[in-house]
Amino acid sequence: MSAAGNGIEVEQLVREYKKGPRAVNGIDLQVAPGEIYGFLGPNGAGKSTTVHVLTTLLPPTSGTARVGGHDVVKEGPKVRSLIGVALQEAALDPLLTGRDHLRLQATLQGVPKERRKVHADELLERVGLADAGDRKVQGYSGGMKRRLDLALALVHLPRILFLDEPTTGLDPQSRTAMWEEVARLRREESVTVFLTTQYLEEADVLADRVGIIDEGKIVAEGTPAALKAEIGRPSVHAIPEHEEDREKIAGFLAQFGEPLATTRDVAVRLRAGLGLTDIVRAVDANGVRIADLELRAPTLDDVFLAKTGRTLEGAQEEAEAEQEERRA
Ligand SMILES: Nc1ncnc2c1ncn2[C@@H]1O[C@H](COP(=O)(O)OP(=O)(O)O)[C@@H](O)[C@H]1O
Ligand SMILES: [Mg+2]
Repeated sequence: MSAAGNGIEVEQLVREYKKGPRAVNGIDLQVAPGEIYGFLGPNGAGKSTTVHVLTTLLPPTSGTARVGGHDVVKEGPKVRSLIGVALQEAALDPLLTGRDHLRLQATLQGVPKERRKVHADELLERVGLADAGDRKVQGYSGGMKRRLDLALALVHLPRILFLDEPTTGLDPQSRTAMWEEVARLRREESVTVFLTTQYLEEADVLADRVGIIDEGKIVAEGTPAALKAEIGRPSVHAIPEHEEDREKIAGFLAQFGEPLATTRDVAVRLRAGLGLTDIVRAVDANGVRIADLELRAPTLDDVFLAKTGRTLEGAQEEAEAEQEERRA
């Protein structure tokens, strides 16, 4: 099959849970063959539901999705033969070793018997589990389990890979190792990757294009650079040396741009043409002391803020509080 067939096309996709929300509320998206698409959003945004629909695990309520050119509803088996999936909740057996899992998966996926051992060795090596392959999974760290799960998703050499929050909760080292492997798959094997994340940095570093999802809707889409450029202007952040100066600082900073909602510092989105020196002059003129003053280029969080009125971190806390409430 030509590489041109390995994209993803989603039109007006809706998924409503019978006893729950409209988790995916009419999304459109396209992933080009060989591209890493970062699906960024807070908890409860609808990322996993989208992944479940695209991987044929859940039927859509309405709308269409084609993966590798095949309709996820009408051509489920074809879609499944092309894709590899590592879900948010890895289903691993604690009593089996990493190698056992890979052998089992290779058998299930019909990898020829004589290739299974070499294949398992290669995959273990590639995800950095060569030394741990013969240990039981119950002794693995969270990062090792996620890496084994990635190896399992790669057993049948998928052309399109779905990774649902592959690095959530991982230590920085495991996160970097995961990023390197995902980048390599795209670079050397032209695998198309649909990756969900709650981490701005992950989307920024890894993804060719990012879709930002909030409450079941895509609120922004584009390359990280284009999304940030849309915000355009940097922000200035000042930490008062004396807490009682906070209001005064906020007062004179307001003449330089729109105030930003932050917790620790006082911040404004600078108007075009202004720079740090303008701020420094104003600080001097107003006779206040600043512990720290920083000019920050726009981040994807600024994009999220501009589109939703909340910061990604704030949305995260909101979602967690909501879930607590539902449980209580
Ligand atoms: N099986 C389910 N039944 C009912 N509601 C669900 C179910 N799974 C998820 N939800 C709800 O759908 C919304 C989106 O969830 P999800 O797709 O898991 O988001 P994310 O992966 O971005 O955290 C949330 O409000 C969640 O509580
Ligand atoms: Mg999820």
